[in-house]
Amino acid sequence: PSLRMDVHSGLLFEDVPLQILARDLGTPCWVTGAGTLRRRVRNLRSAFEAAGLDVGFHYAMKANDHLATLSVLRAEGCGADVVSGGELHRALTVGIRPDRIVFSGVGKTDAELKFALVQGVGQINVESAEELVRLSALAGTLGATARVALRVNPDVEAGTHDKISTGRAGDKFGIAWHEAPALYRQASDLPNVIPVGLAVHIGSQILSPAPFRAAYGRVADMVRALRADGLHVDIVDCGGGLGIRYRDELAPPPSALAGAIQETLGDLDVALAIEPGRWIAAPAGVLLASVIDVKKQPDDVPDFIVLDAAMNDLARPALYDSWHGIVPLSPERAQEDLIPQTVVGPVCESSDIMATARPLPPLQRGDVVAILDTGAYGAVMSSTYNARPLAAQAMVEHGQWQTIKARQPIEALWAGETIPEWLDRETA
Ligand code: LLP
Repeated sequence: PSLRMDVHSGLLFEDVPLQILARDLGTPCWVTGAGTLRRRVRNLRSAFEAAGLDVGFHYAMKANDHLATLSVLRAEGCGADVVSGGELHRALTVGIRPDRIVFSGVGKTDAELKFALVQGVGQINVESAEELVRLSALAGTLGATARVALRVNPDVEAGTHDKISTGRAGDKFGIAWHEAPALYRQASDLPNVIPVGLAVHIGSQILSPAPFRAAYGRVADMVRALRADGLHVDIVDCGGGLGIRYRDELAPPPSALAGAIQETLGDLDVALAIEPGRWIAAPAGVLLASVIDVKKQPDDVPDFIVLDAAMNDLARPALYDSWHGIVPLSPERAQEDLIPQTVVGPVCESSDIMATARPLPPLQRGDVVAILDTGAYGAVMSSTYNARPLAAQAMVEHGQWQTIKARQPIEALWAGETIPEWLDRETA
């Protein structure tokens, strides 16, 4: 495992003592394990190989778009799933080949679509009839041809948190099931676009293969129906969504996802691709935070442990009531009895709670803890709310480490702000 407790050095991440990182970078800081990223991509790949499937990987970079993370994943053979011009720019910056990039997202601006066309992005996942026509016109003005997949909404309940379900009929994502065949036909008649296939993504942190099987089964039916109408369907993009174990969940192994794809789409003679984000990145990151105060509470009420990391750093607990492991770095603390404590951040919101009544060794001011499985949807979702600078970041691998992002300088918080001239005159 990439994290282990050493009796002398405390908690190690890929053989780097996290106490050294906390001391040298300060807290809060994010640490990404390059070795863990690599291992997870390879595990995922072998599961598909074992199922006899050749599947392209388009890493969903919204999960963690740091250039260092992207470089590791590019070296492991991943393309990218991008959802904005900014993400596309990042992917190109680390040298991910445009033909290995898929552009998804429910609202792509003209400028973003043009940028993608000029760069020669391999596939644009279209989300509506309007977008299809607009893309065709834009490609025409550039003399380009867009390879498009229609992202369909299969109306499947993913059984995950409401806020990260995307494939039900009422969700904003995807083309309504019954409209998709006519739109595919229209795409094949339009100039400057080539329909290459279908895309589907039903949600994130999915903990059962059944919804995947249901969605892919429906997509397979649609592939057959389109082909029966004489249309070409060469690609099925199976999206992301595979869940992980944060606490005690029974997360399906990658072989279960591979099996669901194999059973439903395996003999269709289509090129297959997936867009995993969380499964690759989440266990490859921790957030280090120091205890800045212990607010004693009456007996039977858990004390409040106030960290220097907050919901502006890690938004997931406040947004989705998510559970993340919390482990003190010091080897001494690991020996002590656990008592329930409520771990909070300093932000002025009652939802700024990392863990409620969590059994932990008695934490004291100055202790540093690691908040686990925060490599996906962690740093990328940070804000500077309460004028809190973005945290520093480091990468570790094989006992070596390096800073990959300096803590945001305080002046950067107001860089670009101006005070209207008339206010200056008032104060003069
Ligand atoms: N493909 C598409 C089109 C997506 O919308 C997403 C995630 C993915 C792939 C990657 O899904 P994954 O493999 O990571 O589950 N902020 C939330 C998660 C939002 C996911 C949005 N879409 C969280 O922290 O749980």
